[in-house]
Amino acid sequence: MRVLPPEVAHRIAAGEVIERPASAVKELVENALDAGATRVGVDIEDGGVSLIRVRDDGHGMPPEDAERAVAEHATSKIRTSDDLARVESLGFRGEALHAIGSVSHLTLTTNALGAEGPGFRVRVLAGETLEAGPASHPPGTTVEARDLFLNLPVRRGFLGTVRAEANAVATVVQSLALGRPDVGFFLRSDGRGVLALPAAADLRERVSQVHGLSLARGLVALEDPVVWGLVSPLEVSFPTRRHLHVAVNGRVVDADSFAPAVARAYADLLPKGRHPAAFLRLDLGPGEVDVNVHPAKSAVRLRGGRSAYPLVVGTIRAALSPDRGPGAGVPAGEAGTELIPIGQFPGRLSATVRKRLAEVVHLLQCYLRAGELGMRAAE
Ligand SMILES: Nc1ncnc2c1ncn2[C@@H]1O[C@H](COP(=O)(O)OP(=O)(O)O)[C@@H](O)[C@H]1O
Ligand SMILES: [Mg+2]
Repeated sequence: MRVLPPEVAHRIAAGEVIERPASAVKELVENALDAGATRVGVDIEDGGVSLIRVRDDGHGMPPEDAERAVAEHATSKIRTSDDLARVESLGFRGEALHAIGSVSHLTLTTNALGAEGPGFRVRVLAGETLEAGPASHPPGTTVEARDLFLNLPVRRGFLGTVRAEANAVATVVQSLALGRPDVGFFLRSDGRGVLALPAAADLRERVSQVHGLSLARGLVALEDPVVWGLVSPLEVSFPTRRHLHVAVNGRVVDADSFAPAVARAYADLLPKGRHPAAFLRLDLGPGEVDVNVHPAKSAVRLRGGRSAYPLVVGTIRAALSPDRGPGAGVPAGEAGTELIPIGQFPGRLSATVRKRLAEVVHLLQCYLRAGELGMRAAE
């Protein structure tokens, strides 16, 4: 681990990384994942303001590194500006531990995998090192931040209610967990279990743990070497975009920038105001993505001005196309993709009836597209 030279540090999209407990949790959990953890345990009290504790079974740190880790721009993940162009770890700025240590009472206890000694502890209060010395810890790391923003009363005043902050933490953990189905995630808030997500076999199982089996079971798999993942079939939709989750090269990113492509793929297929579920994974070479765009590392840009838009739209479209469905092989014409009027309703329809009819028509269209009409129409 080293302190980045100023010319590298200055090229990093710097910014306030810690805005609220959830942003500290995100950084600490990302560190755990970068350390190769198979299990990450998060405990919070009072929405994370009184306590955030993240415990992992990753490779830990030797004592020298533990001390240096809380210094500004100390990172083991990049060395030069060139490395910045092919970051494969979630962290790379060497900023988070220092930032959290300067606004809280931080205790980092760690033991390097395969080390002889008992372990090591560093304690920092509002940026001042209070203590550094041996302490016992199994292989892995525990970082505890107490009294977040103890020296920034104004920032603390801007926080939401305990409940809002606790919810934001849960959302962050859920989101990171969707990005790494192979890792176990556990969240407790004020001693109460909030999330228990043991290591899952694949993305579908993780989606099932987070959103329930009934959603997970029906999801359609995307088949493209670059864009893969799971999307909802046409008969499943939601009133909000809450079920959109995107990871690029293993990094969970802000899904909003992918929303237009997903919306386009489903444009004429879902009723107005309804949104699909999409769990998208983009695997590009590390040199093809610029992750150093946003302070929270939540945005990425494809190099060379390339856009992922057509690829995302095309891959989802292909997965939703009828020849992939249960009626595979039936040519569109033969499956009868036209609706034939069977009568007319003379009177005015109430809004409720119109809505129900629209749903029925929509479902029929879905079945037609899926080439299932013969089977489902009879039901
Ligand atoms: N949970 C952890 N396990 C092992 N090493 C860690 C852990 N957290 C932090 N580190 C070490 O401390 C360094 C600084 O962490 P951080 O401030 O988050 O910066 P970054 O993740 O950008 O390198 C990391 O580069 C890593 O070497
Ligand atoms: Mg980090």
